[in-house]
Amino acid sequence: MQLSRVGRILIGGLVMAACAYGYAAEASKAKVIRPGEVWVDDRGKEIQAHGGGILRMQDTYYWFGEDRSQSNDPAKRYVSCYASKDLVQWKFLRQALVLETPENLGSGAVVERPKVFYSAATKKFVMYLHVDDAAYKMARVGVAVSDRVDGPYTYVKSFRPLEQESRDIGQFIDDDGSAYLIFESRPTHGFFIAKLSDDRMTVERQMSFVEAPLEGGAIVHYGGLYYVIGSHLTGWNPNPNVYATAPSLAGPWTAIKDIAPPETNTYESQSSMLLKVAGTKGTTVIYMGDRWKPKELWDSRYVWMPLAIGEGKLWLPPPSPWTLDIKTGLAAIVGTEKAPLR
Ligand code: DGJ
Repeated sequence: MQLSRVGRILIGGLVMAACAYGYAAEASKAKVIRPGEVWVDDRGKEIQAHGGGILRMQDTYYWFGEDRSQSNDPAKRYVSCYASKDLVQWKFLRQALVLETPENLGSGAVVERPKVFYSAATKKFVMYLHVDDAAYKMARVGVAVSDRVDGPYTYVKSFRPLEQESRDIGQFIDDDGSAYLIFESRPTHGFFIAKLSDDRMTVERQMSFVEAPLEGGAIVHYGGLYYVIGSHLTGWNPNPNVYATAPSLAGPWTAIKDIAPPETNTYESQSSMLLKVAGTKGTTVIYMGDRWKPKELWDSRYVWMPLAIGEGKLWLPPPSPWTLDIKTGLAAIVGTEKAPLR
């Protein structure tokens, strides 16, 4: 897929002082992320971590997400946990949460977009979930807790954060370790950013209400600015995802802008997370999105790409195989003759 002229001009103008994006002349030996292709774990099985979130503990990343394996009991809902030190090779740890009937919702229960936070205060891991009935009317967050990162997690409660309806949730950990829940609230035509309590068991206070009806919300703090991204409300179908920026989590937020040529529908993906990898030579911000297959959810794919980001601009390049050096923080497109973003 070619970038539009506008996209090329925008990218050409981006000052990428810290966002390191190089070019891989010798990518053959490197570990490669292949957006949109089947991504297998250490067992050779397709990774089941849809609508996921990433928790970093020291030098290990944990990826949690919806486990839609065909072999699962259809009456239950599953969240899987994988571990990696390089964000490329993932070891399956286990199905960290297995829920029979959350909130007595029975077999129609919706359990989506798990996000795990760690509480240094209680030394517990706290998993947030979008919990709903089959018609998506209940609109609550569920909370499950574990002493171990990989579970098993015990379901504790559900609630409506800030007394608002909550559907898609996103997670954000700021550089100072403070933790935030992003949640979409349909009746208010926007989404909230709310600070979590130290024990991570509840929402402490509202940081922002972003007046834009978006879901799949994700945030990154980069170069002194907060960037929020999200998708429009089109169910499982992809749409042009957008972003806004603000000098603080309290706003004020700019108007929303496209993150990719709108006709690509975000390269057939939907936002779920933004991850900042800071290394010895630079910083890469990764867009993590889902390419949903609603009729075969187990085969939904992941679109992970390093973003062009800086000075209030954010741009998702066309998906293409790339490598990441977790130590230097440098990302590189495989097989290109020159770096695509400069
Ligand atoms: C869009 C959401 O982002 C997904 O997580 C899922 O809830 C679908 N809607 C269901 O249609």
